[in-house]
Amino acid sequence: MSSSTLTSTNDIRRSFLEFFGAADHAVVPSAPLVPHNDPTLMFVNAGMVPFKNVFTGFETPPALRATSSQKCVRAGGKHNDLDNVGYTARHHTFFEMLGNFSFGDYFKEQAIENAWTLLTREWGLSPDRLTATVYHTDDEAFDLWRTISGLPEERIIRISTNDNFWSMGDTGPCGPCSEIFYDHGDHIAGGPPGSPDEDGDRFVEIWNLVFMQFDQGADGTRRDLPKPSIDTGMGLERIAAVMQGVHDNYDTDTFKTLIAASQSITGEAGSKEQTASHRIIADHLRSCSFLMADGVLPSNEGRGYVLRRIMRRAMRHAHLLGADAPLMHRLVGQLVTEMGQAFPELARGQALIEEVLLREETQFRKTLDKGLKLLDEATGSLEEGAELDGETAFKLYDTYGFPYDLTEDALRARGIGVDKGGFDAAMERQKEAARAAWKGSGEAASGEVWFDIAEREGASEFTGYSADKGSGRVVAIVKDGAETERAAKGDEVVIITNQTPFYGESGGQIGDTGVITSPSGLSAKVTDTSKPLGRLHAHHAAIEAGEVAVGDTVDLEIDAERRERVRSNHSATHLVHAALRNRLGGHVTQKGSLVAEDRLRFDFSQPKALSAEDIAAIEAEVNAEIRANEPVSTRLMSPDDAVEAGALALFGEKYGDEVRVLAMGREGGEGRNYSVELCGGTHVKATGDIGVFRIISESAVSSGVRRIEALTGDAARQWLVTREEALKSAASAIRATPEEVPERISALLDERKRLEKELAEAKKALALGGGGASAGGATSQDEEVAGIKFSGQAIDGLNPKELRPLLDEAKQRLGSGVAAIVAVNDGKASIAAAVTEDLTEKFSAVDLVRAGVEALGGKGGGGRPDMAQGGGPDGSKADAAIDAVKAMLA
Ligand code: ALA
Repeated sequence: MSSSTLTSTNDIRRSFLEFFGAADHAVVPSAPLVPHNDPTLMFVNAGMVPFKNVFTGFETPPALRATSSQKCVRAGGKHNDLDNVGYTARHHTFFEMLGNFSFGDYFKEQAIENAWTLLTREWGLSPDRLTATVYHTDDEAFDLWRTISGLPEERIIRISTNDNFWSMGDTGPCGPCSEIFYDHGDHIAGGPPGSPDEDGDRFVEIWNLVFMQFDQGADGTRRDLPKPSIDTGMGLERIAAVMQGVHDNYDTDTFKTLIAASQSITGEAGSKEQTASHRIIADHLRSCSFLMADGVLPSNEGRGYVLRRIMRRAMRHAHLLGADAPLMHRLVGQLVTEMGQAFPELARGQALIEEVLLREETQFRKTLDKGLKLLDEATGSLEEGAELDGETAFKLYDTYGFPYDLTEDALRARGIGVDKGGFDAAMERQKEAARAAWKGSGEAASGEVWFDIAEREGASEFTGYSADKGSGRVVAIVKDGAETERAAKGDEVVIITNQTPFYGESGGQIGDTGVITSPSGLSAKVTDTSKPLGRLHAHHAAIEAGEVAVGDTVDLEIDAERRERVRSNHSATHLVHAALRNRLGGHVTQKGSLVAEDRLRFDFSQPKALSAEDIAAIEAEVNAEIRANEPVSTRLMSPDDAVEAGALALFGEKYGDEVRVLAMGREGGEGRNYSVELCGGTHVKATGDIGVFRIISESAVSSGVRRIEALTGDAARQWLVTREEALKSAASAIRATPEEVPERISALLDERKRLEKELAEAKKALALGGGGASAGGATSQDEEVAGIKFSGQAIDGLNPKELRPLLDEAKQRLGSGVAAIVAVNDGKASIAAAVTEDLTEKFSAVDLVRAGVEALGGKGGGGRPDMAQGGGPDGSKADAAIDAVKAMLA
């Protein structure tokens, strides 16, 4: 193979990995672009980033040697190449870094040997074209290059600047390095590294070999790494240019194809500006697509905003090229053809990437024209070298969605700058206004601390949709309502980090619990996570060991099992919402919900109680969706699109620019899923993860609002087991099988009814028979009082309804006479008296009863002269009442 052979970029990547694979390196796939192991970085920007903790000794290496082609993005954050892309031969927002790594295994000699062999023997580059640099004090590397490559001493150049001392960032692994340059030939201006005209394009750095030896702390001190190690980085696009005999990365196969696709839609480039536009589109298509494939979606903060800035920059260039409809999404297919084999995530994400690009471009085009017109008006009279005022730049940002760098880029061709200070000041004024409005809104003054933090640090980035743990940088610590710099063992504080996998309580879903630790010995128990202002994830933590300070990098890990239960309950809430609407009608809307670890609660509008059949049908329908086990999908949409897709709005949700749409369950009519809702919560991957769903109660919350409480997964199983146990013990108590219990219980109830009746009859018989059973001595014998036959009785437990029939029987028995009976129940007494017809002239039953009632501590009583009834509170005076009646006869 020689340098003039056309070798595709895909071939070069493969060949590199195979070469090191054959030399006992583990071939590892590229890590995602969002670094979960390093909160100081916005995006992975070098091949060694995923191995950072391996170099520093915090993690054990996957193998002693590894090799990868790592996806990198340099836009936003410390390494930011965005502004240059399109206008130079070698700047990219997205590129691949080929690397080989030794974790305490081989060191300088083998690293140089490997690099030289691959470049000159395997790939056939001419040694005459190559130059090496070493750090000025690194005699060892100098001598090794001399021996291994045989390069003349003047082509091994000592460099004293930081160009030859590589560090990952302000902190982290670092060490002296040795770079390999390729000489593209004297037809291009420029001198060798270290020479006055080194900035020319003739000598291009193609490979950096870093001799990793130190770990740089935040205070600038360096400690030795556990073992000297090797990290190398070779830009795939640069080496592809060399091997394809071109000088410009944008003339390599991958870029030529992407640019051709862009040209086929908008036309060939006819000018320098148009060439730049096509390059920008090709480059930005790659970074945007790869970022989205790794889960970053456009937003107004953090990583999502960097993505949006890149997108909009490309979209303006599409507009410049005269594209009269959204363009970017139409190029994704070509990118997948080029790179989808090496990066399967790209092919998997294709539909999502196209959808988001189309939506973003459609939306941005609505304001783009107006914004550009404003820009033209504001700069029409400006000369080259002048500046656009910051106020206008801010208006473009705020009203027309022009990221600051887009405005800068738009004015670049005319040599006009932007007043950055003025822009920042306008932004500051707007924040002040928002602050004043917020203060005026009367929210608790204690909340001001959150406002300060949010304003200073921006929103916390939630990484917990895909990860249970990750690291974060502590941006604030709040103790007793005020910010503090540090906290130690025994303190109860709120810790805010720039990113976190902890879900902050919102949308009904409770906050996560878990632990925060650090390599320096911090151990904090997170008992809850809240979400002040809807933007900050506030970890409520008790520090159990060590200490924590603002600026520290900490490891955050949620209680994953608890979260799994929460997820299951949250997804089940969406399913039950859909089932309720299906069964009861579209009037059912969510009125509130609680998604906890142990249960879920769902309040909804519904005028009357659910029947047992309703509940059974709803439960069955939800369980059928669970068993269908369809994957749950999440998409970002504009609120309008979401409503069109059938989304049900969630209770209390505030709509921003974009909403997260959760679709779950099987597809029904019009291709819509069983449930489509706007939701920021965490959910199961597929409905089957819920396991089982059980409604345990249905009740009223207020008029027109019902509440369902339900269980899922193991909680539902345990509930069923507990019920089963109860049934079993009930069955054994009545000596039946569980299946026989209902029948046996109804038989027992029948029997009880029969016995009660028998008992009542027995008591009655007793009364009629004139037997005992008196309430403390009242006689039941018929007697004569002043010549009148009298029968008086006090009976405990006699149903007052029996008084009249009993008195009727007494009258018959007596023929002529007076009868009175007191029935005592629960300490109270009822009394009734009867007078036979022949005696009603002499005695009135009403008077007799009144006398009895008085004795019982009551008042009144009524009826007819032959039969009257009354009652009193004091049943212990039953005998006295009988005596009082008797006294009336005398
Ligand atoms: N980490 C080294 C670089 O990025 C190889 O240049």
